[in-house]
Amino acid sequence: MSEIVVPVSSSVRSAAHVDAEGYQRLYEESIRDPEGFWRREARRIDWIEPFSIVKKTSFHEADFGVSWFEDGQLNVSANCLDRHLEARGDQVAILWEGDDPTESEAITYRDLHGRVCRAANMLKSMGVHRGSRVVLYLPMIPAAAVFMLACTRIGAIHCVVFGGFSPDSLAGRIQDSNATVVVTADEGRRSGRKVPLKANVDEALLRCPGVEKVLVVRHTGGAIAMQGGRDVWYHDLEASVASDCAPEPMGAEDPLFILYTSGSTGKPKGVLHTTGGYLVWSAITFHYVFDYKPGEVFWCTADVGWVTGHSYLVYGPLANGATTVMFEGVPNYPDFGRFWNVVDKYKVNILYTAPTAIRALMREGDDWVKQYSRASLRLLGSVGEPINPEAWQWYYKVVGGERCPIVDTWWQTETGGILISPLPGATDLKPGSATRPFFGIQPQIVDANGAVLDGATEGNLVLIDSWPGQMRTVWGDHERFFQTYFTTYPGKYFTGDGCRRDADGYYWITGRVDDVINVSGHRMGTAEIESALVSHVKVAEAAVVGMPHDIKGQGIYAYVTLNAGETGDEGLRKELVQWVRHEIGPIASPDVIQFAPGLPKTRSGKIMRRILRKIAEGDIGSLGDTSTLADPTVVDSLVAERAVRG
Ligand code: PRX
Repeated sequence: MSEIVVPVSSSVRSAAHVDAEGYQRLYEESIRDPEGFWRREARRIDWIEPFSIVKKTSFHEADFGVSWFEDGQLNVSANCLDRHLEARGDQVAILWEGDDPTESEAITYRDLHGRVCRAANMLKSMGVHRGSRVVLYLPMIPAAAVFMLACTRIGAIHCVVFGGFSPDSLAGRIQDSNATVVVTADEGRRSGRKVPLKANVDEALLRCPGVEKVLVVRHTGGAIAMQGGRDVWYHDLEASVASDCAPEPMGAEDPLFILYTSGSTGKPKGVLHTTGGYLVWSAITFHYVFDYKPGEVFWCTADVGWVTGHSYLVYGPLANGATTVMFEGVPNYPDFGRFWNVVDKYKVNILYTAPTAIRALMREGDDWVKQYSRASLRLLGSVGEPINPEAWQWYYKVVGGERCPIVDTWWQTETGGILISPLPGATDLKPGSATRPFFGIQPQIVDANGAVLDGATEGNLVLIDSWPGQMRTVWGDHERFFQTYFTTYPGKYFTGDGCRRDADGYYWITGRVDDVINVSGHRMGTAEIESALVSHVKVAEAAVVGMPHDIKGQGIYAYVTLNAGETGDEGLRKELVQWVRHEIGPIASPDVIQFAPGLPKTRSGKIMRRILRKIAEGDIGSLGDTSTLADPTVVDSLVAERAVRG
C-alpha cells in the first residue's frame, strides 16, 4: 500500500513558529537537557516567586513522585487575565455563540477580568477558600470559564462535571471530591432542547450532605426550585461583591483542578492537575501545536466538562492572550452547516474538533460546507480518538480546501495537554497518524511483557519520563495512581493505548488496549456501564465491549444475562437503555443489548472479553481458542443469537 504524505507547504513553513530543523533542535534539547529547556520555557508564564528547582520526577516505586517547578509561586488567573490587560485589555478573550444562533456575546479581557474577580468574591462569600473544592455543573456559557478562573484566583480546586452527566454521576463526583459549593445554571440548551441542570443538582444533593451552597446562574429563565438557605442566584449576589480580588499566590504544586475520568476498573478517577506544570504545558502546547499568532481566533469545539475544554478552550488560549470561541450548541443544529456558519461569523483561523463530528458532517455531503467561505481557516485540529484516513481526507480537502494542515493531537485527561502531534510548519502529515512527540515526550513501544520494541513496530505505548503537564495523583487515592499507571510496565507510564511506529518514526495510535471504550471521543469504562446494568432488578450479569461504529468510532455493545424467570424482549431492551442513561448519562447509552443466557468464562470465572469483542464486531470466524472456557457451548448460543439479530 502506498502511503500518503502531505508535505509542509513552503508558505506554512515560513510563517510558522518552528520548521523541521527547529523542531528537531528543540526536541533534542528537551531530551538532552530537560532542566535547561524547561527552565527557559516555563518563563512563558509569569511567576510571582521564581522557581529554582525544575524537576523532581521518578516513575520507580522506590522514589516515586512527580513534581515540577516546586518552589515557584504563581496564579493561573493572573496569567490568563491580569498580565494581558495592559497590551490587550480591549481584545476579545471569549466569543460566545449560543445554541440559538441569534445569541452571542463578545467578552474582552478587561470584562472577563472583572467578571472573574466578582465571581471569586462570590465564592469567598460562600466560604470557599484556598484548597476548597467547587463543583461546576454548567452549560457551555461564559460563566463556566469565569468560575474556573475564579477558583484559580483564590486557590480553590475546581471540579467541572459535564452537564450531560446524570444526577447519580454528579453525586458521585461531589461526594468523592468533598465539594462544599456547587455552581450551576437553571437549565442548559442543546439543539433547541433544555437540559434540567438545577433539577439534576437538587436530585444529586439529596445524597450530598456536605454541600452548603449552590450558586445558580440564570440562563434560560426556566422555572426552577430554589432551596432557602442553600441556593443563591448569581445575579442577586453579584451586586453585593467588590469588582477587584487580588490573585492568591499559589505554589506550583498546589492542586489546580480535579477532573473525573473513566478507567478500566471501578468508579471514575479524580485526575488531579497542579498549578505550575499544567499551565506551562497547556500554554506551550497551544503556542506550538496550533502555531498561534496574536490576533487569531481559535475555536475548540469541546465542552468544558472534558479535559480538551480545560486545556484548549480556557487555559491554553487565555494564557497565550488568544481569542477563544465557546460554542454552546451542536454541529447539526439548526442544520448541518452550523460549524461553517460559526467559522465565517467569527472569522475562525484555527478549528479544533473531534473525528466523530467530522464523520457525522461528512455523511451529510459537501454542500453544507461549501455554502460558506471558510476563507479565514488556516489550521485544523483533531482530538479524542483515532481519525480514519477517509475522514482526515474529507477534513483536509473539503473543509480546509487543501490549504490547512491538520494537527492530529494525541493526549489524555491524565497528560494535561497534547503529547504527540504534528507541528504545522515542521511535520509532513500522514492521514491517521498523530506523527511525532512534542518537546520533552519520550514514547516507547513495548510488548505485553514489557520488552522494548525498536524501529517500525506495534505494541503498547508507554512514556519513560515525566512532562510538566502530567497528572500528579488520583484525588484521595495516591496508591491507585501508582497502581494504575506505573505497575504494568514498572518504571514507565502506561498510557492504556496501543500504537504502531512506522519506518519514519511516526506514531499511529490504534486505540485502547484496556477495558475502556472511546465513544464519540468520550472515554467510557466498560465496568461502569456494567455496574449500571446490574443495578437493574431484572439483570443478573452484564458484560460490555466496544463495537465499530461509523460515526461514534466505537459503539457500546452490552451482553446482558437476566435473572431466572425474566424474558428479554424489545420492551426490556428499551428499559435498560433508559436505565443506563438515567444512571450515567446519555453518552453511556448502549447501542446494542444482546440478551445472553450465559457469558463465556474461564474455569476460574473470568469473562473472556476477547470473545465477546469478536462477536460484537461480527468477526465470528476468528474467535480463537475457546477450549479453556468453563462451558464452550455458551459461545455457540451467543453467535446464534447475534446471527438472529443481524
Ligand atoms: O485512546 C486515546 C484517545 O483518547 C484517550 C484519552 O481520552 P480522554 O482522557 O478522554 O482525553 C481525550 C482528549 C485528549 C486516549 O488514551 N485519543 C485521544 N486523542 C487521540 C486518541 N486516539 C487517537 N488519536 C488521537 N489523536
